[in-house]
Amino acid sequence: MSLKIFNHPLILDKLTRMRRKETSSKDFRENLNEIAELMVFEVCRDIPVVDVKITTPVAETIGKTIDTPIVLVPILRAGLGMTHGIQQLIPTARIAHVGLYRDEETLQPIQYYAKETEDIDKSIVLVVDPMLATGGSASAAIDIVKGWGAKNIRFVCLVAVQEGVDVLTKAHPDVDIYAASLDEHLNEHGYIIPGLGDAGDRIFGTK
Ligand code: PRP
Ligand code: URA
Repeated sequence: MSLKIFNHPLILDKLTRMRRKETSSKDFRENLNEIAELMVFEVCRDIPVVDVKITTPVAETIGKTIDTPIVLVPILRAGLGMTHGIQQLIPTARIAHVGLYRDEETLQPIQYYAKETEDIDKSIVLVVDPMLATGGSASAAIDIVKGWGAKNIRFVCLVAVQEGVDVLTKAHPDVDIYAASLDEHLNEHGYIIPGLGDAGDRIFGTK
């Protein structure tokens, strides 16, 4: 496994906008999608390309193309806030869904939905969720995705803490983790500090 933390100025600036409690739901969503789009450029840096013979208006040549399918797996609800941005760069990506919520007392993930895509075993799979807190939701989502046969999995989040990274790494040592920021710690309610609050509520304007 590898852990990549993006300390890129454009991403850090957008993340700071998201962290501010006065930021509107609209601005929160826009910045989330923009960060996801910027991150996926790097997340896909090493995906394989194959030669393809093409004809330009003036010559024949060999181009490069991606022929490995890419599947996004947003963890509902908050992961949905990242899919549009990623699809801007990978419009052919299929989308599978995993629905999980954290029990407020136990912080354990409860599954309520799962919908796979075809050929996920042959695909590069990006499991996406803005928050990696205790690591329970990410680990459970990846259990489900592996149960569908996925073998090549990357986890992409905005804000992580070391506790969550450790839990996810122990559960799935084969999965590389990409995060915009590694924050300080979890509070007694399992919220990331300083974090950005409840990502799902801020995306969807609930609570
Ligand atoms: C949030 C977040 C992650 C999870 C992270 O979802 O989007 O899925 O918590 O916490 P963990 O690492 O401790 O498991 P939440 O359960 O609030 O559901 P929601 O997206 O529907 O708001
Ligand atoms: N889920 C969130 O939405 N925010 C946190 O800080 C932790 C888990």
